[in-house]
Amino acid sequence: MAGLNIGIDLGTTSVVIYVQKKGIVLSEASVAACDTDTGKILAIGNMVYDMIGRNPDSVTIIRPMKDGVVSDFSIVQSMLTYYIQKICGNKMFKPNIVICTPSSVTNLEKRTILELAISSGAARACLMEEPLAAAIGAGVDVSKPSGVMVVDIGGGTTDIAVLTMGSVAVSDSIKTAGNVLNEDIVNYVRRERNILIGENMAESIKKQVGCAYLREAEIAMNSRGKNYITQMPCNFEISSTEVYLAMREKLEIIGNAVRAVLEKTPPEMSADIADRGIYLTGGGALLEGMDELIYRKTGIKTKVAEDPVNCVANGLGETMRSFDKLRENGYFFRTGDDIQSYTREHEDLM
Ligand SMILES: Nc1ncnc2c1ncn2[C@@H]1O[C@H](COP(=O)(O)OP(=O)(O)OP(=O)(O)O)[C@@H](O)[C@H]1O
Ligand SMILES: [Mg+2]
Repeated sequence: MAGLNIGIDLGTTSVVIYVQKKGIVLSEASVAACDTDTGKILAIGNMVYDMIGRNPDSVTIIRPMKDGVVSDFSIVQSMLTYYIQKICGNKMFKPNIVICTPSSVTNLEKRTILELAISSGAARACLMEEPLAAAIGAGVDVSKPSGVMVVDIGGGTTDIAVLTMGSVAVSDSIKTAGNVLNEDIVNYVRRERNILIGENMAESIKKQVGCAYLREAEIAMNSRGKNYITQMPCNFEISSTEVYLAMREKLEIIGNAVRAVLEKTPPEMSADIADRGIYLTGGGALLEGMDELIYRKTGIKTKVAEDPVNCVANGLGETMRSFDKLRENGYFFRTGDDIQSYTREHEDLM
């Protein structure tokens, strides 16, 4: 196919773009700053991240992806159009794009993502389930007739899938992932300490001292917030045990969801998973003790993939090496016309 081949991991927290033969060329926060009155986009990506919680009333910060799906079409479209133009420059042919979706999305949501890719400048677009791409990016051989489990813990969704012969056999996607853990930390600090902290501070606490399984030796860090009662700025210390307690309920939900998928998995594949283990990908896999939590819940050895944040984009890049293989596994590129005619002929596009 003519044109550049591009893989896009369109995540709730970040957009990562892989260009064939180059690798990952872009990794930007999925966030935009807009003029509150006119709605005009003022800035997108990483430069907006530091504005979160520091924006004046005239600027609204928008996260256009929610729980792994598009919640503000026009902003995501503007973001992708800008990134695609930046990557393709004045190339004569439009690019072919493989883009990922969480494993449980509706046909309407799939169609929205396809339309988004085309309207943002793709000649053809193809969808791939996020956990499948994550597994490939983690270097797992998914082509064999042997079950393997991948748990991708992102910002908006935790995708749990059992893969075999290049496809998803059993899966679930829950909306409990990194972002709700941040919210739990904000709520805990307000409730237990009477201190208000912002989203970014909660995220930094989670990364520095958070844990999914109690650390053997407790650690602590100094942080800053605003006293809820006096309304004055204050410093406070927070320990890993407190952060664990703040997040415990949601961590339990993630662990139970992994168990539930294993319970639904046919026995032969369960046995394969017990041999091959469970792979953790996505930024949430970096939370200290996440592998231990899943191991304790399932009794199956659990590994955090190398470079978990980029597994999906690397996996999309890997699949683009062989379009024949993609087609064999039922992944087809659609043009804008295909999408329109499929929409008319079949309600279920995919
Ligand atoms: N070191 C770390 N410890 C704990 N959590 C982390 C760490 N690094 C990143 N995260 C969390 O990982 C999440 C982002 O992961 P990722 O980039 O895989 O999400 P995404 O692909 O944008 O989201 P989704 O797949 O849900 O749409 C954030 O919630 C972030 O706080
Ligand atoms: Mg993701």
